[in-house]
Amino acid sequence: TNDPLVVFTPSGKRGRFAVGTPILTAARQLGVDLDSVCGGRGICSKCQITPSYGEFSKHGVTVQGGALSEWNSVEQRYQDKRGLKEGRRLGCQAAVQGDVVIDVPPESQVHKQVVRKRAEARDIVLDPSTRLYYVEVAEPDMHDPSGDLERLRDALKDQWEIENVTADLHILQTMQPILRKGAWKVTVAVHLGDGENRPRIMNIWPGYYEGTVYGLAVDLGSTTIAAHLCDLQTGEVLASSGVMNPQIRFGEDLMSRVSYSMMNAKGADEMTRAVREGMCGLFTQIAVEAGIDKELIVDAVFVCNPVMHHLLLGIDPFELGQAPFALATNNALRLRADDLALNIHPSARIYMLPCIAGHVGADAAAVALSEAPDKSDDLVLVVDVGTNAEILLGNRDKVLACSSPTGPAFEGAQISSGQRAAPGAIERVEIDPVSKAPRFKVIGSDLWSDEEGFDEVIATSGVTGICGSGIIEMVAEMRMHGIVDAPGLIGSPEQTGSDRCFLDGRTYSYRVYDGAAAGGPLITITNRDIREIQMAKAALYSGARLLMDKFGVDKVDRVVLAGAFGAHISTKHAMVLGMIPDAPLDRVTSAGNAAGTGARIALLNTAARGEIEATVRAIHKIETAIEPRFQEHFVNASAIPNAVEPFPILNS
Ligand code: FES
Repeated sequence: TNDPLVVFTPSGKRGRFAVGTPILTAARQLGVDLDSVCGGRGICSKCQITPSYGEFSKHGVTVQGGALSEWNSVEQRYQDKRGLKEGRRLGCQAAVQGDVVIDVPPESQVHKQVVRKRAEARDIVLDPSTRLYYVEVAEPDMHDPSGDLERLRDALKDQWEIENVTADLHILQTMQPILRKGAWKVTVAVHLGDGENRPRIMNIWPGYYEGTVYGLAVDLGSTTIAAHLCDLQTGEVLASSGVMNPQIRFGEDLMSRVSYSMMNAKGADEMTRAVREGMCGLFTQIAVEAGIDKELIVDAVFVCNPVMHHLLLGIDPFELGQAPFALATNNALRLRADDLALNIHPSARIYMLPCIAGHVGADAAAVALSEAPDKSDDLVLVVDVGTNAEILLGNRDKVLACSSPTGPAFEGAQISSGQRAAPGAIERVEIDPVSKAPRFKVIGSDLWSDEEGFDEVIATSGVTGICGSGIIEMVAEMRMHGIVDAPGLIGSPEQTGSDRCFLDGRTYSYRVYDGAAAGGPLITITNRDIREIQMAKAALYSGARLLMDKFGVDKVDRVVLAGAFGAHISTKHAMVLGMIPDAPLDRVTSAGNAAGTGARIALLNTAARGEIEATVRAIHKIETAIEPRFQEHFVNASAIPNAVEPFPILNS
């Protein structure tokens, strides 16, 4: 035909359209992602486009003197009231006149790319669960009686092709005056439905609603609960916040919480109540921080380990405390906020990622979603280090998973001078090869202990102990400089050439820092501390090694360290200890809080939910407790770095 050619960028989609066709209509026919909340009425300005005029060569076509219609009164009114950016037009008003190239800027795309944070393995494309729709509803008519909700549903169907919409009682309770206030023009937030859920009206506003709706990505850990508040229209993170998990008072680690529930008749209920209250407190805090109304939070994704999963849901975790570690359900769950007594929009949808196995939770599923080992060409080992290490190994062909009981030593617990990461904790260590004396850095300062001005650091925070990353560097440095031998014994002053080694009971200890002069503690590394680290690192390594056996490989292409801990440890030192398999150091990366990132992906991209459910079903679960090879690997891995395995890359 002779109709003008319209080419959209960046998609490259093109077609011929009759003169007078609005660009929004052309975009819809071609399946071009161009946003609209008002349905082409010139109100929302979500449909902005940038036409290119003159001669253009794009996507292999040359377009001459592209042309759109002149501004009409609707567009002019918008321009006068709000103003459009230079070169922009409203796609619903500007119509085809001649060949034209139309650029759709990112902010006019529904499925826009969400800004990536450092160290994230995949891009996040926005595909929100809940969207806003402006509709014009038919007025009631005595001659054709029907309810206001039914006419609103008809309007959503006719104007937006959304069928089978439902609404909760609270919408019915508030809807009638809003429809009348808006003179039968309203904006509704519709949760588009997922799984077995129908689309649902979540909120309703008179006229055109300028605001947005929000979602929460929540990482429910045994120690802390962290949440990101996201704008569901832009994908932007508006606030991030965390609180201590109030269940701590029932036990520091998961197993002590499981036993609390076994010993106390109402123990599980108490812990359920505590964690839900903790979450409500966090949600209030984050809403205040972002200055938003909690009722506008309409979607939330939770990730957590299996014990937290059960306790949040009000399920007794009893079965998770004993073999064969049966979960109540390993499937993803779709719930409502009021099912869990949470203080956001009462019918906000809650999505919980599937658990992989009795020891490998929805948090590991979230790590898998974020790090995507199932999409990796090379063989990647992903370890999420906490009191339980959750380990994934795989590539495009298959993915294996297991968990390994590392215990809390990597968090500084059960270490004589250990502490949580906080100002004053030693986090970096170097031992001088000649003097065998340590120099170190504490959290809260950039200065090393032998640098000028360090006294001021001592005056402010003091040197209070060693945190997880510090203890790893400490033990690795001690090994590198002959203070500790491969089996893990600290030598005498004669053996090591260091007067910092002293007899401490039946074994030797190493003096790191003596704060007596400044009123601080004496910080030492005892042989027991070395043992604790050996056990923890052996558990981690043997889990990884077992997966490698199952995969039939003796090396991996790359290693990803996930979790807050992974972000802080030195990969070199981790490898000196033999925590992780031998690999080139530049192929060992930190993914930061990958579980939290996975939660954010599932929140912003609803399609990713089905994707991770399929991935998790395909993951092969390995139970370390019943694998004889695990014990063997564990014993070998207790040595530093390993009793039998060479670390050729490390040693080169
Ligand atoms: Fe709303 Fe164009 S679609 S202004």
